Amino acid sequence: MVINVKNIVKEFKEIRALDSFNLELREKEILGLIGPNGSGKTTLLLSILGIYSFDKGEIKVFNQELKPNSYDIKRKIGYVPQELALFEELTVYENIDYFCGLYISDSKKRKELVEKAISFVGLEKFKKFVPSKLSGGLARRLNIACGIAHQPELIFLDEPTVAVDAQSRSFILEGIKELNRQGASIIYTSHYLEEVEDLCDRIAIIDQGRNIITGTNEELRDSIATTEIIKFTLLEENGIVLKELRNLSHVIDVTIKDSEYTVKFDNPNSNIGTIAQFLKDRGLTYLKLYTEVPSLNDVFLELTGKELRD
Ligand SMILES: Nc1ncnc2c1ncn2[C@@H]1O[C@H](COP(=O)(O)OP(=O)(O)OP(=O)(O)O)[C@@H](O)[C@H]1O
Ligand SMILES: [Mg+2]
Repeated sequence: MVINVKNIVKEFKEIRALDSFNLELREKEILGLIGPNGSGKTTLLLSILGIYSFDKGEIKVFNQELKPNSYDIKRKIGYVPQELALFEELTVYENIDYFCGLYISDSKKRKELVEKAISFVGLEKFKKFVPSKLSGGLARRLNIACGIAHQPELIFLDEPTVAVDAQSRSFILEGIKELNRQGASIIYTSHYLEEVEDLCDRIAIIDQGRNIITGTNEELRDSIATTEIIKFTLLEENGIVLKELRNLSHVIDVTIKDSEYTVKFDNPNSNIGTIAQFLKDRGLTYLKLYTEVPSLNDVFLELTGKELRD
């Protein structure tokens, strides 16, 4: 186990940011943390890193408790913070060199690593730029390079793709996959469900300082009652139809938004025929009748009672 978080409680005055929080990071996996604003993701990372002290529980990193002077462990860790942490006075090269220099004293070795990090994030043409001259996406890439240049075995990335353009986003995501292929274990936080689904071996859903569930994409989908979601649009909303739909067997939820009906089923069969027949029997004309498998957003909705995206 690379990280073991057991029953952590972390409070800021009256706010309980982490509430009996449990998490394990396995060797060489990418673990995604998803949760709404303020759910405790950053607090968790900072607690694991030993930047925050916590009120209860135990955290082990590489099977040891992290102490202020645990330099042997800290050298193996890379942290890419949610807010850009760069020196405005230093160039791209000098920024990476500074952070790498915290761990690597041999200047020849460090030069090699800095050059490698620069090409890894594709900033070759910007080595002499200061951060303020970089676009948002390029500054994010620099932030990542600073966190990983010393080739850590364990990497924390806190929302590294927030507010970046599509090109930098896919560059960053491919980079993270590559770091993982090279052997790094990674914790990745994000608001973007599609990203997490695509990137992560396992996913933890965080809400109000708690780890609601951890598992593979498939395990998360299997953990909820909903098995199939059928959607269709009627020209007019119809209260009787709504009531009758709710009474159909295996229907666990029906909602209407902008004349589109969403019907959730809990049985493994294909239910689209049932719905088509239901509408036909009532002489209702529908538009766009289709079926969906539950998404991570549906998992989130069912487990927490709210949408991840507001
Ligand atoms: N330094 C702090 N002092 C006081 N309260 C804090 C501090 N840091 C975080 N909190 C509170 O703790 C809770 C968890 O915040 P945290 O930043 O960990 O959430 P998050 O999941 O990272 O959110 P986001 O998605 O916005 O980054 C929030 O209620 C937040 O207001
Ligand atoms: Mg955060």
